[in-house]
Amino acid sequence: MSAAVVLGLQWGDEGKGKIVDLLARDAAAVARFQGGHNAGHTLHVDGRKLVLHLLPSGVLNDEADCLIGNGVVVSLPQLRAELDEVHAFVGDDGVGARVKLSPACPLLFEGHRLLDVARERGAGGIGTTCRGIGPAYEDKVARRALRAGDLADADAFAEKFLALADYHNFLLEKRHGAAPFDAAAELDATLALGDAVLPMLADVAGRLRAHLRRGARALLEGAQGAMLDNDCGTYPYVTSSNTTAAAAALGSGLSPHELQRVYGVAKAYATRVGDGPFPTELRDGAAAHLSKRGDEFGATTGRPRRCGWLDLEALGRMAAVCGIDGLCLTKLDVLDGLERIRVCEELDADGKPRYLELDGWRQPVAGVRDEARLPDAARRYIDLIETRIDAPVVLVSTGSEREDCVFRNGFSL
Ligand code: IMP
Repeated sequence: MSAAVVLGLQWGDEGKGKIVDLLARDAAAVARFQGGHNAGHTLHVDGRKLVLHLLPSGVLNDEADCLIGNGVVVSLPQLRAELDEVHAFVGDDGVGARVKLSPACPLLFEGHRLLDVARERGAGGIGTTCRGIGPAYEDKVARRALRAGDLADADAFAEKFLALADYHNFLLEKRHGAAPFDAAAELDATLALGDAVLPMLADVAGRLRAHLRRGARALLEGAQGAMLDNDCGTYPYVTSSNTTAAAAALGSGLSPHELQRVYGVAKAYATRVGDGPFPTELRDGAAAHLSKRGDEFGATTGRPRRCGWLDLEALGRMAAVCGIDGLCLTKLDVLDGLERIRVCEELDADGKPRYLELDGWRQPVAGVRDEARLPDAARRYIDLIETRIDAPVVLVSTGSEREDCVFRNGFSL
């Protein structure tokens, strides 16, 4: 019946995991379509925390197909580790049976990680997560990647793997003066992990389409955020995949027509990890407030996130690029306690933000679950955002627990 896309509109870390986890309750399938284990989606359930990097956040819905689409670069050791972690979290070892991945997923190896690390140490670093994501996508585009489906033929896999490892070691040694890695040992480990992965391979697009045709709902889960999109973001300070809505079709195998709704997720302020432009970045007391109250440390790397005011110009642009039907505004409670709140309306000719200054709210929004209990000043803030991005705010998140939400405008999958 319908496929909905949920994606971040800023620089990642918008709180997509919580939104996907909420929507996943009504979904027959939840799929990732881009990125890899550079993502960090934090789920809070009954006071416990689970951080997912590669598995879709819908993994906690024990009825849903958990799918990893062809647009995702997959590290097999990470996949294994995360499946084990989820088993331990839910106490159910049936999780693995619900996770399927496309044979077309490019595999991410140790050579990719080492190249990412070596480059980050050099002059051209941009503050990546050092997970090997960029080099893995390079190999995909250059048509030398090994894909998950290649695991079916161990001999052919070994030959291709050793050729790729040779290339990676050449770059590591000759270009970066770094130590090579033991390709034979990684090949053995990969083939051993591969045996467990082969039964997980499936026609992801076909499964999604079958759910849609029988009237069920599917959810496509974005990673990172629109401002990190390789084409539309703050290039070259971007990730190596496309993170905007169009990528949901390509990376899952669905057609653009099958994506019926797009929900954008944005924090009530802005954060960024890694280098790159951030016009509304703060370095004063308000930054400390946002960082502390928002617990702004990277879920994947633990790096402190840079914090700043909401940039309505950038948000409006990305809302348009993604064609969003609604906005999920997260972490509004983090603004509790601020006397004045600023939002960037536009950048001037020198790229400096022009701010609109608003009153903060005295009565906290933390934990509010009913729209009528939102203070007037908070409502004015939401109204301003809605007007500016030309889309309704469909959900306001007021705390980390699943239930800390205000639903508006008939939000549903
Ligand atoms: P890469 O994706 O590891 O190559 O990193 C490229 C840029 O994207 C860096 O600025 C990273 O900090 C950023 N990035 C990648 N994944 C995430 C994420 O899940 N959240 C926030 N930033 C991310």
